[in-house]
Amino acid sequence: MARNSLTITPLTPAIGAEISGVDLTQPLTNEDFDTLNQTLADRQVLFFRDQAKLSPEQQVRLGKYFGPMHTHPAAPTLEGHPEIFVIHTHKGSTIANGNLWHSDVSCDEEPPLGTILQLHQLPSNGGDTIFASMYAAFDSLSDTMKEFLSGLVAVHASEHVYRSRYAERGVEDAGKVYPSTEHPVVRSHPLTGRQALFVNRTFTTKIKDMTDGESAALLEFLFDHTEKPEFQVRFKWATNDVAFWDNRCAQHLAMWDYWPEERKGHRVTIKGDRPFHRAPAT
Ligand code: SIN
Repeated sequence: MARNSLTITPLTPAIGAEISGVDLTQPLTNEDFDTLNQTLADRQVLFFRDQAKLSPEQQVRLGKYFGPMHTHPAAPTLEGHPEIFVIHTHKGSTIANGNLWHSDVSCDEEPPLGTILQLHQLPSNGGDTIFASMYAAFDSLSDTMKEFLSGLVAVHASEHVYRSRYAERGVEDAGKVYPSTEHPVVRSHPLTGRQALFVNRTFTTKIKDMTDGESAALLEFLFDHTEKPEFQVRFKWATNDVAFWDNRCAQHLAMWDYWPEERKGHRVTIKGDRPFHRAPAT
């Protein structure tokens, strides 16, 4: 499928597209922006191969076409560039970022719309990132379950995720209050109008107005459901590849199967809106 100067190659029926014909170190044309913005919402994650290493300024400029930059509540950033989250795992690491299913920072009231990651250093093998379509996860449910879930609200917390998480990378967080908020269990995508499941194993701790037992059982069902392989695409990185994912309709998990080898890159996140649910007109 060719549009403008870009070529879009879908990767699985549910999710993912490889994009060629654009040099991300250069400003985007209006046409390219429109195509990427719509394709991101439709395919949920875009992969760009054969890219040059982006400077921090070029990566931030790319992100800002899609919205203002989001600031991460906990992660270590690049000196002089607070918008750049440095992804870095090596022999001395005791944790790796994102190695449990999540939608980025869903504990924020206005979670990031999208995330752009470029990896500059890779292990000799492994370190793939897996993405899952929350449109497909929602669409595959029965009408009865869709209706039931559409009235529910979930708590997304982060104290248990972020407290002392980055201490080994020099982040001191004594006295810091980490975000916690509530979001609809099913959210509508503002661009496509499609409905997506919006609960994840990292941040979602409770379904509101249910007993602890009911909430735990329902969340376990939903986590298992959202993590099914048929909703997924798996990306095998090459140096300087770029992945751009839409946190409103996709979750992801970064494999940490390469210890003691090193994996390093830069990530920016784009500010999003407050999630909402609107049933589509029938
Ligand atoms: C993340 O941003 O969650 C990490 C993704 C990755 O390192 O592949």
